[in-house]
Amino acid sequence: MTILDIVTYPAKSLAEPSEKITEIDDTIKTLIENMAETMFEAPGAGLAAVQVGVNKQLIVVNTTEGDEAENSYMALINPEIVESDGEFISEDEGCLSVPELRATVKRFNRVKVTALDPDGNAVELNEEGFPAVVLQHEIDHLNGILFLNRISSLKREMYKRKVKKWMKGH
Ligand code: NI
Repeated sequence: MTILDIVTYPAKSLAEPSEKITEIDDTIKTLIENMAETMFEAPGAGLAAVQVGVNKQLIVVNTTEGDEAENSYMALINPEIVESDGEFISEDEGCLSVPELRATVKRFNRVKVTALDPDGNAVELNEEGFPAVVLQHEIDHLNGILFLNRISSLKREMYKRKVKKWMKGH
């Protein structure tokens, strides 16, 4: 297994919508394993293919806590939010593609997600609270949306300035 490089803001590719997966071949299966490994290594609660430079509708999520957390994950292909309701204030949300930023994001409290599993079977998930937030965050990536787009404009501008300074320093 390979730890993949994570694409970070302001890379333009992060703003592009990902393409639907039409065939779950060995390349996709290997990508899933490598993405899971990369997520555990980071560590993160989720990772979208676009974050490792692959423009395909694939996410891995790990919303379990405690001892089981390290080696359990779920891979979802072509995931889609089909129902959502309620409000959840996601505090201290972060993203592996947006380093050094934590911010509050307003999310739905509950989502219903349909997707395919790595064997091509249709799955339906009903999640609430933190796992629902992770799914919304990762599915946002597939639509070219970063959590940066969902925070206050003041905080966003401050972050953009910080990134510009970093880039000058390199
Ligand atoms: Ni993210």
